[in-house]
Amino acid sequence: MTHTYESNTVEIIGLKDLTHDTRYFKMRCLDEKAKSKFIFNPGQFVIFSIPGVGEATFSISSPPTRRDFIEFGIRKVGTFTEALFKLKEGDTLELRGPYGNGFDMDSLKGRDLIIVAGGLGAVPLRSTLLYAEDRREDFNQVFFLNGARTPEDMLFREDFMAMAQRKIVDTYLAVDTQPETEWPYHVGFVTTLIPLLKEKINPENTTALICGPPVMYKFVIQELLKLNVPKDQILMTLERRMKCGQGHCGHCAIGGRYTCLDGPIFTYYDVQNIKELI
Ligand SMILES: Cc1cc2nc3c(=O)[nH]c(=O)nc-3n(C[C@H](O)[C@H](O)[C@H](O)COP(=O)(O)OP(=O)(O)OC[C@H]3O[C@@H](n4cnc5c(N)ncnc54)[C@H](O)[C@@H]3O)c2cc1C
Ligand code: FES
Repeated sequence: MTHTYESNTVEIIGLKDLTHDTRYFKMRCLDEKAKSKFIFNPGQFVIFSIPGVGEATFSISSPPTRRDFIEFGIRKVGTFTEALFKLKEGDTLELRGPYGNGFDMDSLKGRDLIIVAGGLGAVPLRSTLLYAEDRREDFNQVFFLNGARTPEDMLFREDFMAMAQRKIVDTYLAVDTQPETEWPYHVGFVTTLIPLLKEKINPENTTALICGPPVMYKFVIQELLKLNVPKDQILMTLERRMKCGQGHCGHCAIGGRYTCLDGPIFTYYDVQNIKELI
């Protein structure tokens, strides 16, 4: 299904509220042939359409190592997502994709990974995390740093706490300020976790994968550069509003690049001089 307008019908097979405004969706392709052709990298996205409502773009949150279903984490912000939140288990909708470059996980074999997520950024990066757990032998050290405003705002909180217990991936969870409820993890912005890795990583062999709110990037990059992570090994997901998802409409163009084709993953080295991007 790569770079095609062809759409496929998917059925909702699981729903769960992650926070007051963000919901987990588990889906399966109804057509077995379409399912076998749905090959994706972590970091790629799809476009959903609901007849009479429109279309919208969402990152795949499950890893390509788990092929029986695809998972999403979707925040209700407007018309399309409101319509999506009205759907129930057993309902169907149309999906096209996968689109975008995604993370080339094969090229990261043998490296130390620092995966840094803020807020909704945990949705696409969960795909890389579960991939790293499933293919743990492919990588050297794997660190996951995840920040949210409060424990209640942390997407997939229980899953990530269980991940911290499993210790397959070295997991650090942070909330911005001290919560009133018990919180056995870190308090402070996600950026304050990065210096903790100073003695643990070999910067020359490290790749950082980042996704979060726009304000986070500058500070995360500053901290990673202090650890001497090379600029071309800082990989960031940059999301822009998209329409076609395949380089035809120009909707997502910025700094001479199409975020739907050249991205959404860019290296810091490639975009450091494009002011509008970060
Ligand atoms: C590559 C990519 C991956 C995405 N992955 C996810 C995901 O995994 N989960 C998720 O919840 N959302 C994701 N989004 C954002 C999602 O596409 C929008 O939230 C959705 O299109 C909103 O549609 P709507 O009709 O509900 O809201 P609208 O009525 O279109 O918008 C409501 C509000 O949200 C703002 N908004 C809408 N789209 C965006 C956007 N792309 N960036 C910033 N602000 C926006 C609008 O300016 C407006 O203020 C992704 C976007 C892109 C481009
Ligand atoms: S979304 Fe149409 S060119 Fe990128």
